[in-house]
Amino acid sequence: METNEHNGAPAEGAVRERMRRLEGELRRHTELYYQKAAPEISDQAFDAMMRELRGLEEAHPEWASPDSPTKRVGGAASEGFAHVEHAVPMMSLDNTYSEGELRAFDARVRKGLGVGDGDAVEYVVEPKIDGVSLSLRYERGRLVLASTRGDGKTGDDITANARTIAGVPQSIACAAEVLEVRGEAYMDNAVFAALNAERAASGETLLANPRNATAGSLKQLDPAVTAKRRLSVLLYAPGERRGTEGTGADVQSQWEWLEFLAGQGFPVAALRWRCRGIDEAWERIGELDRRRGELPYDIDGAVVKVDDYAAQRRLGATAKAPRHSMAYKYSAERARTVLKAITLQVGRTGVLTPVAELEPVPLAGSVIARATLHNEDEIRRKDIRVGDTVVIEKAGEVIPAVVGVEAGLRPAGSVPYDLAAACGGRCPACGGPIARDDGAAAWRCDNMECPAQLRGRIEHFASRKAMDIEGLGTALVEALTTEQREEADGLLVGFAQVLPPAVRDVADLYALTPTDIEARRPNRAEGAAKRAEFKMANKLCAAIAASKGNELWRLIHGLGIPNVGEGLARSLAEAFGSLDALMAADRDALAAVRDVGGIVADSVASFFALEKNREVVEKLRAAGVAFDRVERRGPAAGGEGPFFGKRVVLTGTLERYTREEAGDRLRDAGATVAGTIGKTTDYVVAGRDAGSKLEKAQKLGVAVINEATFAEWLGDKEEPQHE
Ligand code: IVH
Repeated sequence: METNEHNGAPAEGAVRERMRRLEGELRRHTELYYQKAAPEISDQAFDAMMRELRGLEEAHPEWASPDSPTKRVGGAASEGFAHVEHAVPMMSLDNTYSEGELRAFDARVRKGLGVGDGDAVEYVVEPKIDGVSLSLRYERGRLVLASTRGDGKTGDDITANARTIAGVPQSIACAAEVLEVRGEAYMDNAVFAALNAERAASGETLLANPRNATAGSLKQLDPAVTAKRRLSVLLYAPGERRGTEGTGADVQSQWEWLEFLAGQGFPVAALRWRCRGIDEAWERIGELDRRRGELPYDIDGAVVKVDDYAAQRRLGATAKAPRHSMAYKYSAERARTVLKAITLQVGRTGVLTPVAELEPVPLAGSVIARATLHNEDEIRRKDIRVGDTVVIEKAGEVIPAVVGVEAGLRPAGSVPYDLAAACGGRCPACGGPIARDDGAAAWRCDNMECPAQLRGRIEHFASRKAMDIEGLGTALVEALTTEQREEADGLLVGFAQVLPPAVRDVADLYALTPTDIEARRPNRAEGAAKRAEFKMANKLCAAIAASKGNELWRLIHGLGIPNVGEGLARSLAEAFGSLDALMAADRDALAAVRDVGGIVADSVASFFALEKNREVVEKLRAAGVAFDRVERRGPAAGGEGPFFGKRVVLTGTLERYTREEAGDRLRDAGATVAGTIGKTTDYVVAGRDAGSKLEKAQKLGVAVINEATFAEWLGDKEEPQHE
């Protein structure tokens, strides 16, 4: 910064320029965070910029812009949804990473309320959920509107989407004229992991974290898509309250409000404390940090709120945030390390995923040497370069990701990353050309024979949710799909016999013999170990042979048609009844199937249009793989059992069935298996440790059956009791 000649302070021009720059950057990052759900920088970096700007504005109020980001909350409402004005603004929270600032907050509160040194303020400490805030409006007990925060004054009407969220009651007992309940929508870490696994399986790009996944899911224009994302909510704050006398909703403290919400059937945070004074609150903040692993969702801090609502009102608010609450943020599980190289991983659909090869660094209990970089656009956006010191983050079960760069530590002479240049425009696995579809983030290798794709396809074909062939691990797949050199023994040292790959497509699996497998097994053993290996090879061949009789949906899923995951494979199998009928179907016939849209229809049609794929199908037919095994499920089947035509939800652990078996058995019995409980649910099957779903079922009055009844209704005999 240029300085003032006389006193060494930064000159006016430089300060003003810095303020404009900070404003611009904060606006850009606010939009990325709220509108695009694609943040480029960490929360800490954002907060630091905001603090710096606020400091400068305090020192020079005359230079502050009237619409400065320090005076605004969040983003604006987005296109595609009706806009709703909030009756009571949805504000943000001030936040801090320091104990000192938290104590300064307490001092301000005490001063504002006139609480003397010997006395303490009552606070409530709650988790700060890392999700997307929403407001639910009930009129005389019925949910009439759900909205996002938007810019704090106007948000999006997301009622149809919110209605699909399991924790959002459609109606409540409280008959207040108007009752607005505010809280956070979020995605459980387990749900997020499953969603990304599904996306990986169908060759789609991965979502960065549960928060982004939540924001994206709430912004779907089709509520059916939101429903599939299995979002959750936690409620914590009141909005507008009118005509609440005598309804129990006119409570006057945060603690009572949370109890009231729980009583009305709203999910509220289980970990919450009412504390006397900031010392006790600080202890609870520490406890929450230690126990955050118990929670199935991400939190990024604790919120400390003055408990008494009359005191809250007296304290008032700034333009952006109330003075009665403060968020204390935990530092995320982050580490800094050097990016040594960017390599490319080729998936089964040919998508090239850039992977960060890192100087190994300890993070959240493990040593991280690799992290995902998602795709080239992401690398460019964050301007990540080889040689950079990068910040990596691991949240919950999520794969570690590179979230940013320490630009100040960049070595001289580094260049922006260019994927095509880095690999010479060739696939690193097969040397074939790579291409990028218009508008797509991913580069892909279109060579069907690419060994990396082949390995991916074989592993996918054999995977548990496809043909379910046990015993075909990564190392063996590698050995079976590449040329092997067998060194001759004894006198013929130096002579090698070359074995061609045994498997060139998924159909070749059916021609494998135990001897083929043995000849190619890496690190072949001797003696007893060798006999054990041979036994395993025999078992594998038997498993491969047994898979010929699999149901059609497994085969369709196993073929690895882009965009066709397990669920769609089931729908397609049910709709067409045989692989031949599916292959013969035109785009319209495909698009008419439940859940199949234009993209999937195109994907299926172009898959079977490829000569090579049709050849593989014919080889599978010749090998005796069943093409038409569809066990009729659902109301068309004409079955009669108690589950026939019913919507059933499974929860908790069953003793005799795995989740998958139980689901299959229900579908066999003509039921639809659903993930969330709603008004249309007929039965909930509750096993051991059934948690919130059981509570929900009871609340909604849905019939709950135990495992014994479940087995009985399925017609399974009681298992003999062992002493
Ligand atoms: S109270 C008047 N309580 O954090 C402010 N907010 O960074 C009402 N958040 O906009 C918010 N957990 O979306 C409150 N237990 C909690 C929260 C929470 C998460 C979110 C909320 C807010 C943002 C501020």
